[in-house]
Amino acid sequence: MSSSPWYQTAIFYELYVRAFQDSNGDGHGDLRGVIERMDYLANLGIDCIWLLPTYPSPLVDDGYDIADYYNVHPDYGDLQDYRDLIEAAHARGIRVIADLVMNHTSDQHPWFQASRRRVEPFTDFYVWSDTDEKYSDARIIFLDTESSNWAWDELRGQYYWHRFYSQQPDLNFDNPAVQQEMLDIARFWLDMGLDGFRADAVPYLFEREGTNCENLPETHAYLKRLRAFVDAHYPQALLLCEANQWPEDVRAYFGGDPNDPAAPGDEFHMCFHFPVMPRLYMALRRGDRSPVVQIMERTPAIPPNCQWCTFLRNHDELTLEMVTEVERQWMWTQYAPEPRMRLNLGIRRRLAPLLDNDRRKIELMNSLLFTLPGAPILYYGDEIGMGDNIWLPDRMGVRTPMQWDDSANAGFSSANKTYAPVIDDPVFGYQRVNVAAQQADPDSLYHVIRRFITVYKAQPALALGELRFLEHPNPSLLGFERVYNDQRLLCLHNLSDSPIELSTPAAHDLLTGADLPPGSLTLPPYGHRWLALSAPDATRQRAQRTVR
Ligand code: GLC
Repeated sequence: MSSSPWYQTAIFYELYVRAFQDSNGDGHGDLRGVIERMDYLANLGIDCIWLLPTYPSPLVDDGYDIADYYNVHPDYGDLQDYRDLIEAAHARGIRVIADLVMNHTSDQHPWFQASRRRVEPFTDFYVWSDTDEKYSDARIIFLDTESSNWAWDELRGQYYWHRFYSQQPDLNFDNPAVQQEMLDIARFWLDMGLDGFRADAVPYLFEREGTNCENLPETHAYLKRLRAFVDAHYPQALLLCEANQWPEDVRAYFGGDPNDPAAPGDEFHMCFHFPVMPRLYMALRRGDRSPVVQIMERTPAIPPNCQWCTFLRNHDELTLEMVTEVERQWMWTQYAPEPRMRLNLGIRRRLAPLLDNDRRKIELMNSLLFTLPGAPILYYGDEIGMGDNIWLPDRMGVRTPMQWDDSANAGFSSANKTYAPVIDDPVFGYQRVNVAAQQADPDSLYHVIRRFITVYKAQPALALGELRFLEHPNPSLLGFERVYNDQRLLCLHNLSDSPIELSTPAAHDLLTGADLPPGSLTLPPYGHRWLALSAPDATRQRAQRTVR
């Protein structure tokens, strides 16, 4: 694995600092708290932490509305704590990336306040207009709260453009000063030792009349400039792209030359693969592999120095933007029967509740996360099957305190009141679902995930291998090979509640350690197997479809 760049074989962990550990008893998780829990992360085996925004912010969008790019929100600590966190992670071989929100700031940012007053050089830092009719082909993203991408500013006497909350004015990337500011901000954090960024909401940097204002050539050109800057000064740093788009559109964010598979990418090292995510849930509920097979076949090859990043859940609603209207309605019926579970074009629930808290399904979905192409990213708490609280506002229901043990506040905080209530319902409550209990129980979900991580790291084919789907008459069998050099893995998933019989060659079961003779194998309902094939060519004739 040593020859491939670190991020191609890494396992990521998405961490919400406010939720993780409160070190000073004020009810809010903080950077010192993360440091206190660093051994937990090292033990789990993850390679890179992604920190959700920790900048000063009025928290209208929970920190994605930044009021100062060069500091830390006082709830979380200060810059020294940030440095210490990076150092504590690095000491354990863990890297740290953080959100970089380029598209917009908070309306409380001094730039915006100055821009409202036409104070130079900030007058044109934002996208101002006398009418609210420009760029009318751009969709509204926060559909439940916003009715326009324009908001009126009384002080300036003009409208300003915003793709998210109206308290998040979009920066004007046509202004060279704005472009430079973002490079300076990147430099500041990378100089501090940060290992890269999860670049937030990048498709929307530029606006052009007559377009949907997404994925514009100007946007790509600027992102390439950011990459060139990073490469020149921080060659180990990672840029991970958040573009919730179709695979062919996301492909452009890797850069390189789409006609030359050997050409290196020169934009983002990694991009989230959004469209595969809802299709995993669709395939499971339908007992039919085709949504997953189809989207992977529709996924273009990416440059050799790049990697996809895949996930099951994150801090947002489970987005249904990249499915058809019919599929979206079906997904809502299946996975969000209560209206309160729906938000914008998605579902605000966590992994375990989505999967009926059925261990077989939770393991199956995680198994797909680890065995399909793309670097897996775990969302904090999902490794122990935490629940959610759909009654909290916005997306806060999937951002509740981490459940460490069965003591008060789940061991998260000694405060009387925490920033959000700890989950304490009879099924997902911290008394039952917590790290300590699962660490003590060798059969727990935690230990299954840990095993996945260990095996993933020992099997480069899972990170780097080609994907070849198995043809099988039973549509509920989602089987594929991952092939890398002379390594050939067979990953089997049963999407149905009936056992599936299949014949397999001699193999080594990577999860149980058992050696299997050639013969028949029964995949139990919702079962999964990771098999290393000792007879390299045995399944070749059955593996007909090659992707990537
Ligand atoms: C991204 C973030 C989301 C945030 C939005 C606006 O989609 O994941 O949490 O609200 O960008 O910054």
